[in-house]
Amino acid sequence: MNHFLDIHKTDPADLRTMIDNARSAKEARKGLPKGTPDADQPLKDHMVALIFEKPSTRTRVSFDVGVRQMGGQTMVLSGTDMQLGHGETIADTARVLSRYVDLIMIRTFEEQTLLEMAEYATVPVINGLTDRTHPCQIMADILTYEEHRGPIKGKKVVWCGDGNNVFASFAHAAGQFGFDLTFAGPQTLDPEMVFVEEARAKGSKVEIVRDPIAAVEGADLVVTDTWVSMHDPQSAKERRHNQLRPYQVNEALMSHAKPDALFMHCLPAHRDDEATSAVMDGPHSVIFDEAENRLHAQKAVMRWCLGK
Ligand code: CP
Ligand code: NVA
Repeated sequence: MNHFLDIHKTDPADLRTMIDNARSAKEARKGLPKGTPDADQPLKDHMVALIFEKPSTRTRVSFDVGVRQMGGQTMVLSGTDMQLGHGETIADTARVLSRYVDLIMIRTFEEQTLLEMAEYATVPVINGLTDRTHPCQIMADILTYEEHRGPIKGKKVVWCGDGNNVFASFAHAAGQFGFDLTFAGPQTLDPEMVFVEEARAKGSKVEIVRDPIAAVEGADLVVTDTWVSMHDPQSAKERRHNQLRPYQVNEALMSHAKPDALFMHCLPAHRDDEATSAVMDGPHSVIFDEAENRLHAQKAVMRWCLGK
């Protein structure tokens, strides 16, 4: 069963094929209206369930549009409206949904929910973000980097800010795609070391640096994300802002990266907190290409899951 649960759990050759397929499928659609069906309709007669236990704009719309372009149908389900949110087990939900649909995408809180869904579903399951990782986002980010600058292998990616779920998937990708990764943030918000160790074990140079300027020197790509994620308590907001303010990505910090460095943010952003509008709307930024590429990357992921 081809579940897409995390980047480090997916074969590197398959990841490479997905990125390359996404790129050529995107190219084939260039200039067409968004609703134009793909020529080959690989999801014809397929039903896809999109489950959201947390808010979403990009994931929701890009999966829905992607399925429709490929000829399939979707149902977007909110966790609170499902019996899942009222005590039905994940295992039973997975077994029931598998009788109706061909593919399940879930955005949830605990990673365990995703893993149980995958264990009991008899159709492929895709991780649409958990508290711990966000693999679809990083597939889109790799696609975006390579469209603009060529192969990411051997490049230096610098993450500024919170060692969160999006960072974790970058660390997984570092190991699988062979790029180097520097984490710049306060010790209190370090990522789980297991992510760092796994990437190192696969040969990536992964560094943890406290000085943001030193971290960004020689960067090919600078990335940040919100300082308060959906799973973080709002009560932690002020403390997190105080700790993360030195790691804001602004023009002064970007000037230490390579002149042709790219800037990414998965969005949604809190403008002028984690990154200034000058950077987000400036010459290094590819944030809206990233958002667009969620669509193209996930279409390739879905095709892989369904063996299409
Ligand atoms: N980047 C991302 O996953 O955005 P949404 O929360 O809007 O889906
Ligand atoms: N780290 C953020 C990513 C949102 C797409 C969160 O989990 O809220």
